[in-house]
Amino acid sequence: MDPDITPTPVRLPRIGEPAPEFHVETTHGTRSLSDYSGSWLILFSHPADFTPVCTTEFIAFAEIAPPLQQRNVALLGLSIDSTYSHIAWVRTIEEKFGVTVPFPIIADLNKEVATAYGMIMPTESTTETSRCVFVIDDKGIMRSMIYYPLTTGRNMDEILRLVDALQTTDEHKVATPANWRPGDKVIVPPPKTTDDAKVRMEQGFECTDWFFCKKDL
Ligand code: BEZ
Repeated sequence: MDPDITPTPVRLPRIGEPAPEFHVETTHGTRSLSDYSGSWLILFSHPADFTPVCTTEFIAFAEIAPPLQQRNVALLGLSIDSTYSHIAWVRTIEEKFGVTVPFPIIADLNKEVATAYGMIMPTESTTETSRCVFVIDDKGIMRSMIYYPLTTGRNMDEILRLVDALQTTDEHKVATPANWRPGDKVIVPPPKTTDDAKVRMEQGFECTDWFFCKKDL
């Protein structure tokens, strides 16, 4: 390969590390990651404007914008399309489906953010971003990453559930089991020493074994 066109390796985001900073043009003006300090952010990508699955997703993201706002979570979309295309698509969604898209959409024409966040899966497409969801907390830390292929629309219930689980984990220092929903019992973190393991069963938790204890919040 010509050394001039060898791609520069990019260190992709990891859970628990600061999310990559960005300064971008959006349908609501310029935005930087640092603008969201103090608020949680869901940064998500879609393959392209004016495509059917993406349209269903945008309608669904618009529906969960208010419950996310109640949880101090902002939405920010992204694709490798121009601001004009985004504006035209958002207007079409409003006209044809009666849904207002309330969140900004990044016009990532130079793929800067898509590359920094690893949103492009070259075996799927080199010109479109896959369906990625990045949950970034109020301190700018990457907390969760979800990747879906071009052909599968995302599940908004799961995105809300994930936010609830992350915020509950932070507030109560617990973990959440499979299929957890707010109001369900939570998992008490397993003991880290043999002494803790000995006393675990007598601490008033609902324990099936020394390593498997649940409690109500
Ligand atoms: C869609 O949004 O409908 C779509 C986009 C890219 C590939 C396949 C479907």
